[in-house]
Amino acid sequence: MPPEEMLHQQRQMATVRAYWESMQKKPLAMVVTYGCQQNENDSERLRGMLYEMGYGFTEDKEKADLILFNTCAVREGAELRVLGNVGALKHLKARRPGVIIGICGCMMQQEHMVRQIKSKYKHVSVVFGTHTLYQFPDILFRALVQNLRVFDVTDSEGEIAEDIPVYREGDVKAWVSVMYGCNNFCTYCIVPYVRGRERSRRPEKILEELRELASRGVKEITLLGQNVNSYGRDADFSMDFADLLREVNRVDGIRRIRFMTSHPKDMTDRLIDAMAECEKVTRQLHLPVQAGSSRILKEMNRRYTKEQYLALVDKVRAKLGNISMTSDIIVGFPGETEEDFLETLDVLEKVRFDSVYSFLYSKRSGTPAAQMPDSATEEEKHARFDRLLEVQNRISREINEEYGGKTYELLVEGQSKTDPGMLTGRTSGGKIVNFPDNGQIKPGDFVNVKITKVSTWSLAGETVSGQIGNG
Ligand code: SAH
Ligand code: SF4
Ligand code: F3S
Repeated sequence: MPPEEMLHQQRQMATVRAYWESMQKKPLAMVVTYGCQQNENDSERLRGMLYEMGYGFTEDKEKADLILFNTCAVREGAELRVLGNVGALKHLKARRPGVIIGICGCMMQQEHMVRQIKSKYKHVSVVFGTHTLYQFPDILFRALVQNLRVFDVTDSEGEIAEDIPVYREGDVKAWVSVMYGCNNFCTYCIVPYVRGRERSRRPEKILEELRELASRGVKEITLLGQNVNSYGRDADFSMDFADLLREVNRVDGIRRIRFMTSHPKDMTDRLIDAMAECEKVTRQLHLPVQAGSSRILKEMNRRYTKEQYLALVDKVRAKLGNISMTSDIIVGFPGETEEDFLETLDVLEKVRFDSVYSFLYSKRSGTPAAQMPDSATEEEKHARFDRLLEVQNRISREINEEYGGKTYELLVEGQSKTDPGMLTGRTSGGKIVNFPDNGQIKPGDFVNVKITKVSTWSLAGETVSGQIGNG
């Protein structure tokens, strides 16, 4: 990104700030985020820019001067939710014409969506995509000060806009993008079309950000990318993800390192070794399998077979011990038969994931799978989905049972959202544990907690001192 471009955005931030100051008003923004952590991370950047432009934040749309939807295109359900919520703001805009309503993110990288917003959602005056996120100050300036309707969804591939201000909630853990985009083109997936090709951030920029976070007291970081295992492959520096992990492991003050997502086809021995050798890398791996049938995996263009996936899991466990494993699974991919589905259940039984994120296949126009013939009915797909949940819930529960009576080191994250009066923390393996607040423990502390209560979804315990488990 040319420095003069970033300078221009900085100037626009100052102009917007001055505009609000001249109005003697402290504006409020509401940023609504859909989709993955990459989007959450983008929203932190949007808030960072808004903060520089003088905005405070609200979750109340009646108080907001700007309502911005950062959208996800991965499944139809996510898109329909956004359209519904945006549509519902028509009356609010009629009542308070000064409110700016904007949509950004992955949905806006699709031409047909932009066209639809332009013609049918006239109360929306700001639209930009993932590639023009850094131009947000300029876009907002034109909408706010010049009173224009601004649509800016041009591609700007191959560039990474560094040094965008970031506004982060909470100070115990943070997400840090290490790369953007995806080159894999799984046949069901829209992400490569809306996020563009893989671009790796320079390691020194990542480390700079991490040191800054550590100096502010952040203890745990999650390195983000659609496929972190291919970090550096596109770059002019000679560093892969294993090298990056080793560097990150050396950052003082950072105590735990997580990362996502790993593509099984790119999970190298070098990376597994680095995970084993870096003491800060947590005992957890998110390794999406998507389906159990090798035939379906081929149709999905995942580039591994069921056997290769299972062998990889064995290798990971041989080197890293019994770490927590999680996965993503799609049910009802075009052409999936009962036999194919049973292969997926077989993978669940063989691997015994701690938990899985399961999705009903959703047709995405423009992807190869959208053209593939389908035979299973919606009822059959829903029934498979329920069977999958049943199997996985049993396994999750059985795995959680094994935690009972053992003691784990937790990083304390804050008050429990589900259990008032309790604190909540996470094990290295990523399990959430609630425990009573004794008044002396604060977010960012590490405490030892003995598990006293187990359910399918959560664990509860009591603080103890002394020996800890390995979870
Ligand atoms: N890059 C990551 C995550 C991509 S999106 C990865 O490769 O794992 C998160 C998940 O959404 C995917 O893992 C997949 O399980 C699911 N997903 C993607 N496209 C989908 C579609 N068209 N229908 C249903 N689920 C989908
Ligand atoms: Fe989508 Fe596949 Fe890329 Fe993940 S690896 S973002 S599922 S194309
Ligand atoms: Fe959705 Fe975009 Fe993430 S499509 S899953 S928000 S990369």
